[in-house]
Formats: sequence, structure tokens, C-alpha cells
Amino acid sequence: MKGVLLAGGTGSRLRPITHTGPKQLIPIANKPVIEYAIDDFKEAGITDIGVILGTQGREAVREYLGDGSRFGVDITYIVQGKPLGLAHAVGCARDFVDGDDFVVYLGDNILNESIADFVRGFEQGEYAAGVALQHVPNPEQFGVATLDEDGNVVRIDEKPDDPEGDLVVIGIYLFSAQVFDAIQRVEPSARGEYEITDAFQILIDEGGPVYSHRVDGWWKDTGRPEDILEANRLILDDIESTIDGTVESGAEVVGKIDLHETATVEDGAVVRGPVSIAEDVVVGDGAYVGPYTSIGPATTIRETHIENSVVIGESTIEAHETFVDSLLGRRTRLESKDGYLPDGRRLVVGENSRLRL
Ligand code: G1P
Repeated sequence: MKGVLLAGGTGSRLRPITHTGPKQLIPIANKPVIEYAIDDFKEAGITDIGVILGTQGREAVREYLGDGSRFGVDITYIVQGKPLGLAHAVGCARDFVDGDDFVVYLGDNILNESIADFVRGFEQGEYAAGVALQHVPNPEQFGVATLDEDGNVVRIDEKPDDPEGDLVVIGIYLFSAQVFDAIQRVEPSARGEYEITDAFQILIDEGGPVYSHRVDGWWKDTGRPEDILEANRLILDDIESTIDGTVESGAEVVGKIDLHETATVEDGAVVRGPVSIAEDVVVGDGAYVGPYTSIGPATTIRETHIENSVVIGESTIEAHETFVDSLLGRRTRLESKDGYLPDGRRLVVGENSRLRL
């Protein structure tokens, strides 16, 4: 069994964060989303992994994952180039897969339970493919599955306006090498993409069978800023408290905190977990870092309250303000205006930004 990890796509719903980097490297509790997938593969005993690269942030992904040895896996890179859809991305893995069965993992998906049971269930039968499913309140935003009485998939509708059920396909698929012939016959969809759901439908129509596995633990497709914050919250809920850094006397630290050994919480600062604080962070006087916040490397926070937020890193936050539910890109500076300027907010904002003031 091989692994195929998709790291392409444009990340359009995460602009402007994705103007400068790939969505798969956005940190959740200070670990890039894509690394959770690598860990999952490893836990299921899959160490031979093909990473499909798009155009956006291609070098950054390669630089971060390297040859995989840092993570105990063996990585082969495959360039998809233009993002023409998931079926096209999977099709690029044909030579790498070389006739084996394989797991496809969308690099922006994150789930808390292991994929091992899913893989084992698939291996116990003679299936053409397999999908992992979950009940969701917003099925119209996903591929919606219909099952027969044996639990095999009989239909998948991609983002239907009027979904028949609420059981949707999550971003982890299992395939036999049969899928490559099906992919060659997929036509572009209404949104102009080669959809993986159409490849499934071809396999189903030709007899399949397509295995299904219900995922009971949480799952997040981290496509939008609010999904990043929610995934961060879910991961932080499960962290162990590891206070390796410096907590000065006069600082208040309560709840579960993952404090890197080179980070400091100074006198006069308050940190209430669950919180993750990365290397070389200074939480200084007057700062309050509240529950469900992750502060990325080399960031300084003073005189500012922040809660339920992700600060990617290398930022300076000294703003005499309270920030909640925020996603701050790398090298952000948030500071207070000085006293002589007219009242009002002064902003330098990139293209496609969304501000809630
Ligand atoms: C893709 C698939 C969809 C699936 C989803 C899971 O959607 O097309 O069937 O439910 O991933 O994350 P996308 O995120 O590309 O819109």
C-alpha cells in the first residue's frame, strides 16, 4: 500500500494568507496541516509516499518535507502543475503507484482518528476503491454519498444543490490501480475540473465495488479561515501540558500550555490554555493569550489580548487591543496608532483581504 498526498490547489478561500505560501503549510497548533497527514500515513504503516505538487508554493512544500527522513517516511515528488482537479492530480501518480493499491490524502484535511481501520477494512475485501464518510450539517459543500444495504457506495454527487443525505466523502480515498483507467475517461465538470467523484462513479458503474468506512472522530477540511481556527481548537483540546520554556515570577499561566523551551512568558503576562507557544516567542507585559490560541515562532506580544486565534509567526503584536477569532499571516505587525493622529484605523491591507472590525 502506497500513500499519495495532494499538496496542490490554489487555496483561494484562504487569501491573502495563500498569496505567499501553500495552504498545506498553514500551522495548526504550530505544526503544518500537511504534517498531520504524514503522521497518519506512518501510523497506518504507509511510508512510501508520493507528494503531488501544484504550482503554488511548490518549493516551500518540498523544502519543508525534504526526502521525508525527518518524519520517518520516504517521499517522492510528482509535479501536477496547473490545478485541473483532484482526478487529474491523482492521475499524475500512476507511475509512482506502479500497480499497487494506494491511499490518497488531501493535504489540507485533518482528522483525529487513525486511517488504519479504513485501510484494513479495504484490504479485507476485493474493492476497486474506498471512501471515508462523515455526517455533516452542510452536505451541499462536499461530495455526498449514497450507500446500498451492504454499505457499498452506489452514487457520489459532487456538491449537489439539493443533497439527498448528509453523509459526505471526506478527503481520504483508497484506490486500486483500476482507478487510472477510469480517470482517463473523466470529462471536465461544470466548474471546469476533473472531479475525483466522477472517477468513483465510473468505477461504481462498472461494478466496483466501492467500500465505505464511517469516520466517527472529528474531521476538518481546512479550506477557510474559520476551519483553520476550528482545527486549531480541536487539536489544542487534546494537547498535553509541556512547559519547557521560561515562566517568570509574576506571570500567570493556567490550563494546558505547550511552551517551547526557548519561549518566555514575562512578568505581567497572562496565558490561559489550551495554548501552543512556539520557539523564540515572548509573551510580554500586559499581554493576555487566551484559550485556543497558537502563537508561531519568533513572535512578540505585549499589551494585547488575543484569544481563539492563530498567529503564524515572526510577528510583533503590541496594539492595546483585543483580538479574537483571528488568523494572522507571517510577519504581521499590529501596533497602536500614536496619540497625534486623527481617530480611526490605519490599515495596510493586501489584495482579497477580509477584515472584521
Ligand atoms: C473535495 C472533493 C469533495 C470532498 C472534499 C473533502 O472538495 O471534491 O468531494 O467532499 O474534497 O474535503 P474541494 O475541497 O476540492 O472543494
